Amino acid sequence: MAMRGPRPLLLLPLVQLTACLALASGQSCIPEFRTFWKNHVDYLRTSFSRHNTYCRMRMERAKLYKKPINTFIHIPIEAIKSVCRVNGIPVPPDLRKSKRFFKVTTCRYNKTHNKTHLYNGTFYRRQIVIRCCYAFPIYYHE
Ligand SMILES: *[C@@H]1O[C@H](CO)[C@@H](O)[C@H](O)[C@H]1NC(C)=O
Ligand SMILES: *[C@@H]1O[C@H](CO)[C@@H](O)[C@H](O)[C@H]1NC(C)=O
Ligand SMILES: *[C@@H]1O[C@H](CO)[C@@H](O)[C@H](O)[C@H]1NC(C)=O
Repeated sequence: MAMRGPRPLLLLPLVQLTACLALASGQSCIPEFRTFWKNHVDYLRTSFSRHNTYCRMRMERAKLYKKPINTFIHIPIEAIKSVCRVNGIPVPPDLRKSKRFFKVTTCRYNKTHNKTHLYNGTFYRRQIVIRCCYAFPIYYHE
């Protein structure tokens, strides 16, 4: 009987604290998530015909010039994020594979290139493998 009054009030700070911690842990993932987004997400790819040209322009724009291999995913960011939750299956030790097949372009740097062959771009539909930090994708497994 004596507990009746104050109890809900005492619980409140704990609830707030838990909410703050959850928010803080998710927020610490955001810088890496932004980098993932910049380097690997290009939902509305303009041209699907010339993969090498696409790769050259897109790698320069992402400031990834001469990076040996990099993949761009042509799917909205929310669909990629869902791989961290219901639309992904765990891949040991700490990766997740998408259940769906996604459109991607993989760009491979050509060491012996002439201008038009700076990158060898290849288009695929495949299950992607990523690492998540809470609900945020932070790493693309090439
Ligand atoms: C690049 O092109 C130049 C002339 O356009 C040619 O002399 C050279 O052999 C080419 N290099 C390669 C690696 O194909
Ligand atoms: C790399 O560049 C050379 C020279 O331009 C070209 O002959 C060759 O086909 C290119 N390789 C790839 C994998 O794109
Ligand atoms: C580009 O890479 C793909 C995938 O590795 C390969 O099948 C293709 O032959 C390469 N293109 C050239 C011109 O070597």
